[in-house]
Amino acid sequence: MKKTLLFIASAALLAQACGGSLSPQDKLTVHDKEINALIAQMTLEEKVNMLHSKTNMSSAGVERLGIADMNYADGPFGIREEGQPNGFMSAGWTLDSATYFPTGSALAATWSEELAYKYGSGMGKEARLRGKDVILGPAVNIQRLPVGGRTYEYLSEDPILSAALALRYTEGCQDEGTAVCIKHFAVNNQETNRGSVNAILSERTLREIYLKPFERAIIEGGAMSVMPAYNKVNGEYCSENEHLLNEILRGEWGFKGFTVSDWGGTHSTMGAMLHGLNVQMTGSNYLGQPVIDSIATGALTEEMVDEKVRQILRVRYAIEAVPADVANTVMTSQPECQDIARQVAEKSIVLLKNEGVLPIKADVRKIAVIGQNAVLKTQSGGMGAGVKALYEVTPLEGIQRRAGEGITVTYAPGYKNFPGRRWGPAPTVKDPLEASAIDEPADPKLVAEAVALAKEADLVIFFGGTNKNIETEGSDRKNIDLPCGQEELVKALYEANRNLATVLISGGPTDLRVLEPASPAIVQGWWNGTEGGTALAEVLFGDIAPSGKLPFTFPAKLEDSPAYAMGNFPDPNGAGGDLFTLMFRPDVLSMTPAERQAFIDSLPKPESHYTEEFYVGYRWFDSKEVKPMYAFGHGLSYVSFTYGPMSALAGKDAVKVSFSLTNEGAMPADEVVQLYVSRPEARVEWPVKELKAFQRVSLGAGETKTVTLTVPMKELRYWNEATNAWDLEHGKLLLQLGSASDDIRETAEVTI
Ligand code: BGC
Repeated sequence: MKKTLLFIASAALLAQACGGSLSPQDKLTVHDKEINALIAQMTLEEKVNMLHSKTNMSSAGVERLGIADMNYADGPFGIREEGQPNGFMSAGWTLDSATYFPTGSALAATWSEELAYKYGSGMGKEARLRGKDVILGPAVNIQRLPVGGRTYEYLSEDPILSAALALRYTEGCQDEGTAVCIKHFAVNNQETNRGSVNAILSERTLREIYLKPFERAIIEGGAMSVMPAYNKVNGEYCSENEHLLNEILRGEWGFKGFTVSDWGGTHSTMGAMLHGLNVQMTGSNYLGQPVIDSIATGALTEEMVDEKVRQILRVRYAIEAVPADVANTVMTSQPECQDIARQVAEKSIVLLKNEGVLPIKADVRKIAVIGQNAVLKTQSGGMGAGVKALYEVTPLEGIQRRAGEGITVTYAPGYKNFPGRRWGPAPTVKDPLEASAIDEPADPKLVAEAVALAKEADLVIFFGGTNKNIETEGSDRKNIDLPCGQEELVKALYEANRNLATVLISGGPTDLRVLEPASPAIVQGWWNGTEGGTALAEVLFGDIAPSGKLPFTFPAKLEDSPAYAMGNFPDPNGAGGDLFTLMFRPDVLSMTPAERQAFIDSLPKPESHYTEEFYVGYRWFDSKEVKPMYAFGHGLSYVSFTYGPMSALAGKDAVKVSFSLTNEGAMPADEVVQLYVSRPEARVEWPVKELKAFQRVSLGAGETKTVTLTVPMKELRYWNEATNAWDLEHGKLLLQLGSASDDIRETAEVTI
């Protein structure tokens, strides 16, 4: 009988085993003795074999010693369809339909730590059913650019919100016995030239903004693996960045697990071996035979390999391998996870504006639903992670189901849909509802048809926004304009019927300057998962009160946002040629290593300068007094909330505030209370205000609760570049409590 390793799956058991006193990272080391004994039995070849991909989504164990392979799954918003061993093409399985969870920005719009935990646990559960050990998520980079292709995957422009959710997602997932691989470490804030761009930023900006979400998930959440990003940070590729991987991640944060390069993001043998990478994904041209050769020449030592293997095995011990005859025996998508997806969707929907149109009135008998975004599925599309969802309720289906028999729902597409860059073979017959260009003007026939329905209806619901091909991994948007003549259409609809609500279906912000005056109500509806349409209908019909809050700023215009205003993006030198894309060109793949290196050296060297520093998102808009279209943290309800007077106390370890919160309405509702901090007499430069604490509070009709928010003193520190350490500036703090970054209800002053 084959020897199998005994694995301890649950963090709780581990804690018990070692008296509960170890840090989440140190818990990974409790089996080091056994691991070392195991390493001693391995040949060099077996060890090196663990340092690179085995298939597109696995890295090898050692069968002879009962060490199972490590199986990965994308991540981050649903367990990805099973692919072929050598790539992403479908394996054609039938039990691999998963739950499609709301995408990152939707999760963040809930501002709910509890839901982030449930979300992570749902991902962790379904990963186990598929025999996966590690999910490639959560994706937690800061949304620096409104045009960012992966804004929808990422959480927020704010590090405190992102960090809180990243932590709880990590805990939820790992408590189910699946490791996270938190990504993309770090400063992966643009898709433009993502494989080669050098992000140049100050240490203070790096620490206070871009590293925060990783830091909490790793130190407090015990994230077991980390994916270094494609880009460079301050001159070094992330997959071989001494400062990021060895000094900060392992040195300061005490990370004990393993790192996995982003797919195709390993760049050299020596760089990876010396500066913190464990596993090359995918390929073995750097962390395969060249490692063995380098040991033979003395450039590397076998102990270095042992150390990397030890870090991988720690996770292998913590995560129980799912036996092959247990994995993939039931459908991946489970009802309890579909329920989590619905809960997240319900709490993520943001009511941006409402001049009495919503909730839908009892006398509405005929609703005209206009816009292709009401029917397009969003589980996949574009490049990158998608989900083969077991089912997906579209907005139109959700509205039709909720409307029932007494209400007639009509539908017209209204505008053409831009399919973007196509993956796979082009269809032989062109879909008449497809636009050839993103800025193609409105089609008069489609507009006329939509207007005719609008005229006959009691209420028009216009579905605008982007789509999954426009916001996608691999490229950034050129602008944030509404595509395919949507503005012209919404103006015509508004002319035809003033009782109009707009629902924006997108992952990131859009330019609403034309749409806003033509929409008495506006809802941000996101890419909201398997139950997205159900949740949206519940909010529109007033079964539940909307309670999402924006996790990023909606700028009035793109040029107002910090990286644009500072001339940092797009790259003023316009250097092109995404190394990542180029490296997969057939002619490049067939080059010898020397030719390849010469080719890489000949490429342009794009840079992204972060001279806006920590003035990211609302930190910029508030400090520079630029009015956005909708501010960070904004989101209305069907009820109003009263904030009672705030009492504040500064202790040794934390600042605490307490206040009463009352739901003045006739229905249950949630409010997300937000505490911002300003420093009236600071010597150090600070943004005019920064989020430091928040909480989602559920209140019954007319109910009052006392709410306490805590800001740990360590969250009030800044990164002192002179001493290269965290520092606390003592003095006065102005505490600003409110319902949004631009809706402050109570203030108090304390001295720390
Ligand atoms: C993405 C990662 C993803 C990986 C595997 C890369 O292109 O950047 O986020 O996990 O592919 O699919």
